[in-house]
Amino acid sequence: MVIFRLGFAIRLLWTTNLLAVGVSSNVQRTNTRHGDVWYANVTGDLLLGGLFPVHRKGNDGNNSCGEIQTEDGIQPLEAMLYTIERVNEDPRILAGVRLGALAFDTCDNPTYALQQAFYFVKGFMARGNRLGEEGYRCEDRSVAKFLDGELDGVVAVLGAQSSSVTIQVASVLALFPVPQISYMATSPFLSSKERFPRFFRTVPSDVNQARAMLEILREFKWSYVSVVYTDSEYGDHGYETLTLLASEYSICFSAPHRISDDRFTEEDYDHVIRTIAEKTDVRVVVLFAEKSATLRVLEAARRVGVGSRFVWLGSDSWPDRRDAEGTEDTIVLEGALAVQPLYAPLSGFDEYFTGLTLDHERNNPWFREFWRIYHGCTDDETDDKVAGKVSLSFVVDFEVKKN
Ligand SMILES: *[C@@H]1O[C@H](CO)[C@@H](O)[C@H](O)[C@H]1NC(C)=O
Ligand SMILES: *[C@@H]1O[C@H](CO)[C@@H](O)[C@H](O)[C@H]1NC(C)=O
Repeated sequence: MVIFRLGFAIRLLWTTNLLAVGVSSNVQRTNTRHGDVWYANVTGDLLLGGLFPVHRKGNDGNNSCGEIQTEDGIQPLEAMLYTIERVNEDPRILAGVRLGALAFDTCDNPTYALQQAFYFVKGFMARGNRLGEEGYRCEDRSVAKFLDGELDGVVAVLGAQSSSVTIQVASVLALFPVPQISYMATSPFLSSKERFPRFFRTVPSDVNQARAMLEILREFKWSYVSVVYTDSEYGDHGYETLTLLASEYSICFSAPHRISDDRFTEEDYDHVIRTIAEKTDVRVVVLFAEKSATLRVLEAARRVGVGSRFVWLGSDSWPDRRDAEGTEDTIVLEGALAVQPLYAPLSGFDEYFTGLTLDHERNNPWFREFWRIYHGCTDDETDDKVAGKVSLSFVVDFEVKKN
């Protein structure tokens, strides 16, 4: 119960079966892309910018994007779209003002995310121009616009999810008089008001997260544990906080391993796992790492054949089950514990989400990809379902995070 007092909960996943029915219609897309860049687009008088890891980080080190993410990507994006819809429907909240959104994919990758965030930056600069700041002028002396002034209406940016992406984006957005609010970034680094004067978040910082992990270790009397963390803002600070507080909880971290998601090869990961495994007395491994690195550690544990020998205690970036599906890490993930900020269920969201049909790609350009992967159909079949050639009902099983 101490865990709950700290504002963190142990994450458990379970599955609910719900029914969604495909509806026939001709989908008309609104404007949801600029060149190769896609964005969710809800029109409104005031716009909220959004940054979501709709796709996982790609594995080849460049700006690539990986698989689509349901629980960590599509669902939080939909939570934003749903909330905006609710606000717009309720005359008591923002009477006479329609709230809209423009949300981009970060691919959980700081470099890629920064490129996307530049859409907001260009919009802010264009707005500055319009408001008479000395800036760009066209040859005919008219005020220069960016994308027809469509991004001028962005009044705040919601995001991003991971700390590394959020820090990267926040360092640029800090230059503009616009608030940024993250729903998931927990790094204590973001607490600095000098560096990030307009940054806010709806989650507690990692100091609380480290305490929650230590509480769990103490509760189960695991006093001698190993720790693996990434060489990033998130991992370094997490490890630092853990070791700083460890003595208070009489816990000893043996042989810490600092890993690098960008530089490490499979052999490097295997080496880390072997080194831990050779310390026969270690049964518990704490992982303070971004999701992509966490998955690679678990993959290595499976390769080396020691996955189920350890109890894994993960941080809040712990992969959801779908991330691990198909990577054969599910077995390793079973029995693992991970902490996560305490959250409140969003009333009505489950009904909204399971009631969505392919029409929804009008607002969410990634919805078709999600739908196709989710139902395991090819792109042609996806269209058949929209065109209503077949009458279908889909069984949607999705994971609900509960405390
Ligand atoms: C969003 O969609 C509306 C309606 O189709 C369109 O007018 C607007 O240009 C779009 N915004 C952007 C940034 O593409
Ligand atoms: C990364 O991008 C560079 C430059 O575009 C390219 O030369 C290199 O092959 C890419 N690396 C991978 C692993 O794709």
